[in-house]
Amino acid sequence: MDYKRYIAERLKVEGVSEEEIAESVAVPPDTEMGDYALPCFRFAKTMRKSPVQIAQELQSRYPVDGVISEVSAVNGYLNFKVDRKALARDVLTRISDERERYGASATGGGKVICLDYSSVNIAKPFHIGHLSTTVLGGALYRIFNYLGYRAIGINHLGDYGTQFGKLISAYKRWGNKKLVEEGGIRALNELYVRFHREAEQHPELEDEARAYFKQIEDGDGECLALFDWFKELTLKDVNKVYERLGIKFDSYAGESFYQDKMQPVVDELKQKGLLQESRGAQIVDLEAYGMSPCIILKSDGSSLYATRDMAAAIYRKNTYDFEKCLYVVAYQQNLHFKQFFKVLELMGKEWAKDLVHVAYGMVSLEDGAMSTRKGNVIFLEDVIDQCVEKAYRIIDEKNPSLENKADVAEKVGVGAVVFGALYNSKIKDIVFSYDKALNFDGETSVYVQYTCARAASVLSKAAAAGYNAKLCGAEPCPQEFELLKALGGFPDCVRAAAVAYEPSYIARYCVEVAQKFNKFYLDCKILGAEDDVRAFRLLITKATLTTLRNALGLLGIGVPEKM
Ligand code: ARG
Repeated sequence: MDYKRYIAERLKVEGVSEEEIAESVAVPPDTEMGDYALPCFRFAKTMRKSPVQIAQELQSRYPVDGVISEVSAVNGYLNFKVDRKALARDVLTRISDERERYGASATGGGKVICLDYSSVNIAKPFHIGHLSTTVLGGALYRIFNYLGYRAIGINHLGDYGTQFGKLISAYKRWGNKKLVEEGGIRALNELYVRFHREAEQHPELEDEARAYFKQIEDGDGECLALFDWFKELTLKDVNKVYERLGIKFDSYAGESFYQDKMQPVVDELKQKGLLQESRGAQIVDLEAYGMSPCIILKSDGSSLYATRDMAAAIYRKNTYDFEKCLYVVAYQQNLHFKQFFKVLELMGKEWAKDLVHVAYGMVSLEDGAMSTRKGNVIFLEDVIDQCVEKAYRIIDEKNPSLENKADVAEKVGVGAVVFGALYNSKIKDIVFSYDKALNFDGETSVYVQYTCARAASVLSKAAAAGYNAKLCGAEPCPQEFELLKALGGFPDCVRAAAVAYEPSYIARYCVEVAQKFNKFYLDCKILGAEDDVRAFRLLITKATLTTLRNALGLLGIGVPEKM
């Protein structure tokens, strides 16, 4: 039930659209006054009356019914009380009917959303800096699919550039098959670091590297085979992490995929008179838009990151005909996205307006020193392992006889890392703390998971005793009502998260529902209540578990049966 819309449909205000009214209806922080409130200040101009008068007038006109049972006018606000029995019935029926689809919808109508996320660099560490793009992108991917869109997950691999020539040079000089096969990314990264160290003494190594890169570009057998092998090894390592985080992609078309798709872009720019020469390089001047120029070709004729991104955007539009193409990339790249979006717009691509840079802040570790094997690179895999290990220790201490402790620890540990990255508004820089992320009483995934386990335990005891769950005719008590109202808000929350590209809305929602459930659990007897009340409370408990499972699932977090 969409109460805001329901109210708006019945509340006719001259000169104000239903849409506008629905948007103005808010949930007041203090539910004493009402469950919804409409501030009348913004109608004062159109209606030429004081907000107080408007509220009174609207109150006298509003048709109270079995859904909204009470309307009052207070100081320029119109307050609505919903019929609690009706709300309970609606919310619980809907959740029982829709179950694992509760919160889902078909609003997307199969429209395509391209999502560029994680986008790792070949032979480079998959480090803590990739956490946000990976889990934000993964969550948005699930959210859009849940809302009936067709999400296309794209890992725009960083697999192009002179660094691969350096890597081949280093491998040939100091590497060997066994070392690299066993060491994976870490071994490749060490070779790369060594190349830089040695090149300081021997600058001629740089020429060698350039020559090797040229051979990759020209499709030379041996160099290309080595490069493909590095790519394979990198993906093998990264996939282990993706699997634990529940991350999927539909395409791994990386930068090198666009090698033969850039010339047409350059030609088009030239033909449209957008290309200029500047100190030998080919650029698009963006001064009129307050930006530095977008460099398309370097003076040696080689392409740039932006050139490849432009070719990629055009390719994606042609291939997927996207409604929107989202780039989940750190805010450090703000300028890059603004530049190439602008250039595409100047080329007359009307769809350039559908390209969105979903920027996010930095993640650092509270204990930065820990787990650094090489320099100050912190591998994401190490962070996850560490968190799972800590989770195991805590679980083992709290509940030594628990079965499947390792499985539970994996869900709790991975959940803590994911939730830690998703809990705050994405643009904020965050400092990840293992202890905070694993606090059973904090605003954490483990708190939510524990709440689920608590609900599941009540339900399994009820099942063992043969109790059933069903609606009853009684008016919900305040604790039940607060929880039910929150549960009813889930579909709205998912929609809002998609609109704002903010999985944090869902993370916060999980904590809110868990808190309300725990208040209900502690204040109200469930199993010990009278028959009717018990059945009703069991139904609420079941609905809570369903909703939290769905919500955590969208974030990529599993729910252990027992904890
Ligand atoms: N590989 C890049 C990096 O690590 C991110 C790529 C983001 N996607 C894009 N289409 N530019 O910085």
